Amino acid sequence: MVKKAVIPAAGYGTRSLPITKVLPKEMLPICGRPAIDYLVEEAVNSGIEEILIIVSRYKNIIMDYYDRSLELEMFLKQKNKSHLLQTIQLPDVKIQYVRQPYANGLGAAISLAQTFVKDEPFAVMLPDEIILAEKQTALQGLISIYEKKQSNVIALQEMPLKELGNYGVVDVTLNEENLFKINKIVEKPVSNPPSNLAVIGRYIFNPNIFDYIKDIKPGIGKEIQLTDAIQVMIEKDISFLGNKISNTRFDIGKESDYIKIINHLYSKKNGL
Ligand code: G1P
Repeated sequence: MVKKAVIPAAGYGTRSLPITKVLPKEMLPICGRPAIDYLVEEAVNSGIEEILIIVSRYKNIIMDYYDRSLELEMFLKQKNKSHLLQTIQLPDVKIQYVRQPYANGLGAAISLAQTFVKDEPFAVMLPDEIILAEKQTALQGLISIYEKKQSNVIALQEMPLKELGNYGVVDVTLNEENLFKINKIVEKPVSNPPSNLAVIGRYIFNPNIFDYIKDIKPGIGKEIQLTDAIQVMIEKDISFLGNKISNTRFDIGKESDYIKIINHLYSKKNGL
């Protein structure tokens, strides 16, 4: 069973500067809730019981958000505003934190989760991507594949050619409907992407990935890339499956998607 999830939230949020100079991108408000809370909700709805958030300096506001505010609770009670208490109720999941002292890549960030993960399979959820639940959450889909196949699983989505250079892109063979064997993965291909299927920020890994990340040398952007560890594992015949998902997804590092998700959720909330 996959019960643990890791959310790497130590990046600088450069695409959303200048606000991210003082407000972590994970805390950008979306209909009154911080962006990261949509991932926490996806995790909880997918059966995750423990989350590790990888933070960095200036990200303490994330920890504050997931802590109780006793003064506020008392204030609401005293002022006959107890109906608002439910808005500040904490999610039903255990959240822990670790700090990443150097922003040296996604692979390096994930390696900090080893003590938390121990010897269990685990999910990785990238906070740029908010993926709406449809019949099921994106993560639930991956978890059910993991449970059947015991293989590492990566969520994929088709992307226009001009955007593929911003993603990990895979070469695949079709196994079953929407389920692929990944033959190769390339981080941010500058030309000739192996397909139009991009990695979109949801993964399930077996814990042996840590053995491979530790030997990875800096790659693109002089960072320790998670993608490079995955490629080494594929070359050693370790199974990676790709699940093409159809859920609506918003990359909130893009201003257009940030506005779109607010409009979408606001309309839904208000029956528009
Ligand atoms: C990361 C991964 C990349 C993946 C992307 C999804 O890149 O390295 O493989 O496709 O997230 O959002 P980043 O966006 O952090 O540069």
